[in-house]
Amino acid sequence: MPCFPRLFGKRVESAGRIPEAADEFAGVKNIKLYSYKELRSATDDFCPTNKIGEGGFGSVYKGKLKHGKIAAIKVLSAESQQGVREFLTEIKVISEIQHENLVNLYGCCVEGKHRILVYNYLENNSLSQTLLGRGNCGIDFTWQTRWRICIGIARGLAFLHEEVRPHIVHRDIKASNILLDKDLSPKISDFGLARLMPPNATHVSTRVAGTLGYLAPEYAIRGQLTRKADIYSFGVLLVEIVSGRCNTNMRLPNGDKYLLERIWEYFQRRELIELVDVSLEGKYDAEEACRLFKIGLLCTQDAPKLRPAMSTVVKMLTGEIGFDEKKITAPGLISDLSEVTIRNTNTDARTTSTDKDLYSSSDSVNNSTFSSGATLTFTPVYERSI
Ligand SMILES: Nc1ncnc2c1ncn2[C@@H]1O[C@H](COP(=O)(O)OP(=O)(O)OP(=O)(O)O)[C@@H](O)[C@H]1O
Ligand SMILES: [Mg+2]
Repeated sequence: MPCFPRLFGKRVESAGRIPEAADEFAGVKNIKLYSYKELRSATDDFCPTNKIGEGGFGSVYKGKLKHGKIAAIKVLSAESQQGVREFLTEIKVISEIQHENLVNLYGCCVEGKHRILVYNYLENNSLSQTLLGRGNCGIDFTWQTRWRICIGIARGLAFLHEEVRPHIVHRDIKASNILLDKDLSPKISDFGLARLMPPNATHVSTRVAGTLGYLAPEYAIRGQLTRKADIYSFGVLLVEIVSGRCNTNMRLPNGDKYLLERIWEYFQRRELIELVDVSLEGKYDAEEACRLFKIGLLCTQDAPKLRPAMSTVVKMLTGEIGFDEKKITAPGLISDLSEVTIRNTNTDARTTSTDKDLYSSSDSVNNSTFSSGATLTFTPVYERSI
């Protein structure tokens, strides 16, 4: 793979001016390229003490760039290695998408085998590590703060779904992909990253298996990926934020394990208020909290067509438009898929996993086939019908 040391750390103004890079960079303009050397130095040679997380795409480091700017540096794992040109084309799309509720991509490094993304660093970590994390994170998630977070995520997603052309299905909306800035304003991260992966990349299956609690059933079982699958995940996130608990908790007794199931039950009994996070100590607007739960239920209805579009969700959240709660139908749940057959693509050995493994992080899983006979398949993110 060719290396273009002279380009790094500069914007690619015009590939035509650099003869040796003409092929790879043709048509790709205005992407900030960092050299591997610069990112190595920014992270103290990717020192473990600078590592702030690890996800399905690879490891994330906190780093200090040349002019003192702090960045989150995501080193993509081997599976994501695309050709230079293909990679840059996708990066260009992602870097041009800007919204106050989306994480900002500064640029990337594509040098030899390295594929690294450089993002603005968000000071207050992710919702999964703060609001839903164990232990005290030191952040006071007041009702007002939670409400602002819900609206912000909804606006960011409505932007991706309805304003960006062609629209983008995030396909991995979950608490760890919602980052908080210093003012606790939410930023959706990892949008567009699915485009960097081949549709059948093994770790895509792993990622999906690890976050099954957020997956719309039609996507999990039949591989139907549309905006409605994101809306389902958003609904799950919404009820997590209001209740202050994760969508699945296998340590709880049967019946309490799956949050969505409980929300539906309490909704039918008209007792939703019981599920609002107790750590709010009653300091919230009860009508508003129940409305958010009901919007969560609207978004997670089993039939994708019944789930409202994100721009409608935004208006429902702000109270600009109402909805008929009598028409809310039961959520789609995949909690009864209690056994999953996992196929290791390298050895083709088959093992069976319990749903406990399924709902926890399952980084060792390579490819999943449900015992129902349905195989997880992945439709390209460009395919959007609903
Ligand atoms: N821009 C950022 N600013 C601050 N912290 C970040 C940033 N991006 C990622 N992180 C941290 O790194 C962690 C890992 O992120 P990463 O996206 O790699 O994994 P994930 O979100 O847990 O899973 P997935 O790969 O499915 O998105 C996040 O939970 C967050 O704590
Ligand atoms: Mg992430």
